Amino acid sequence: MKALIAAGGKGTRLRPLTYTTSKPLIPIANRPMLFYILDEIEKAGIKDVIININKGTTEIPDAIRKENSWNLKITYIEQEKPLGIAHVVKIAEKKLKDSPFLYYLRDNILKGGINEYLNEFTSNNCICHILLSKVRDPERFGVALFNKKGEIVKLVEKPKKHISDFALTGVYFFTPEIYKAIDKLKPSKRGELEITDAISWLIKHKYPVTYSKVTGWWKDTGQVRDLLEGNQLILEDIDYDIEGKVSSDCTLEGKIKIGRKSIISDGTTIRGPAIIGKNCRIKKSYIGPYTSVGDNVEITDTEIENSIVMPCSKINSSARIVDSLIGFNAKITSHKQTFPSGHKIVVGDYSNVEL
Ligand code: DAU
Repeated sequence: MKALIAAGGKGTRLRPLTYTTSKPLIPIANRPMLFYILDEIEKAGIKDVIININKGTTEIPDAIRKENSWNLKITYIEQEKPLGIAHVVKIAEKKLKDSPFLYYLRDNILKGGINEYLNEFTSNNCICHILLSKVRDPERFGVALFNKKGEIVKLVEKPKKHISDFALTGVYFFTPEIYKAIDKLKPSKRGELEITDAISWLIKHKYPVTYSKVTGWWKDTGQVRDLLEGNQLILEDIDYDIEGKVSSDCTLEGKIKIGRKSIISDGTTIRGPAIIGKNCRIKKSYIGPYTSVGDNVEITDTEIENSIVMPCSKINSSARIVDSLIGFNAKITSHKQTFPSGHKIVVGDYSNVEL
């Protein structure tokens, strides 16, 4: 069994962050999303992993090499253009050879891992096993339609009308028969080779396609609010672990992790679940539940809650920041610190700001 991860694509829904950071490296609870996928693959006992990246990207291999914490053989394929998630399978064929494989789209995190589903795939003797989850917004996903016996009869990508509550999660198991289906594909309306169409082809041609309904939580982290929810879900499970220094006038409540060399001072309150990285300075502030603060961040005189602050940012503002995603090296100051007063902002292309 091998694993293929689709870690290319444009990440348009998370612009402007994805102009400078590959989407799979955006952190959730201070770890790149991609690392959680590698953890799950390792736990499932798969050793051979192929990662699809955009042509010329070095950031992802560099980050994985630096972390170096998996016992996996990781190799890369480069996609010239994002021509679709079935296109990724097509170009990975040479490396996957005749092995069955797990296909994982990089936007997804599955709590509870994949072992159970891998067992179902191998014991079902099917050629494709997909994971489905009940969602409130099926129009954002590929969805499955069933017959009275509960078998899948069709998959539809991003249906305009409500035809099913069950979305494809972006985690699939295949045998090499999938290449036959991909060879028959034509680009979809969005100009891509769709894996949904390839699986529909298998169903139409009576190949056994089975499914599991995901029992634990699953999150597609395509948009900012999903990423914040993913962050909440991961933070729920952190352990209390304080490595940095917390002065006696500060208050820590709930599950909190504070990294080495971080200093929390001047009456700061941290209410967990929350994680503070290494080498941070937090003064006169309130860090509320579901907040992840990356390494080397300085926060002064600020309230922040349900947010992700990426490494090396500086925040010194008397404002209350909620439900926000703050990129690497960002600087947020109070509008009262310089004259004329008022909000002075440099907003990157495709940014979202609520003043
Ligand atoms: O997240 C689940 C959904 O993922 C499924 O419900 C849909 O059926 C499936 O088509 C997919 O929909 P998305 O619209 O989320 O797919 P997206 O174009 O965002 O691509 C999925 C991942 O694959 C994304 O993590 C980037 C990567 N990718 C995408 C393309 C188009 C590549 O590596 N190469 C590509 O050419």
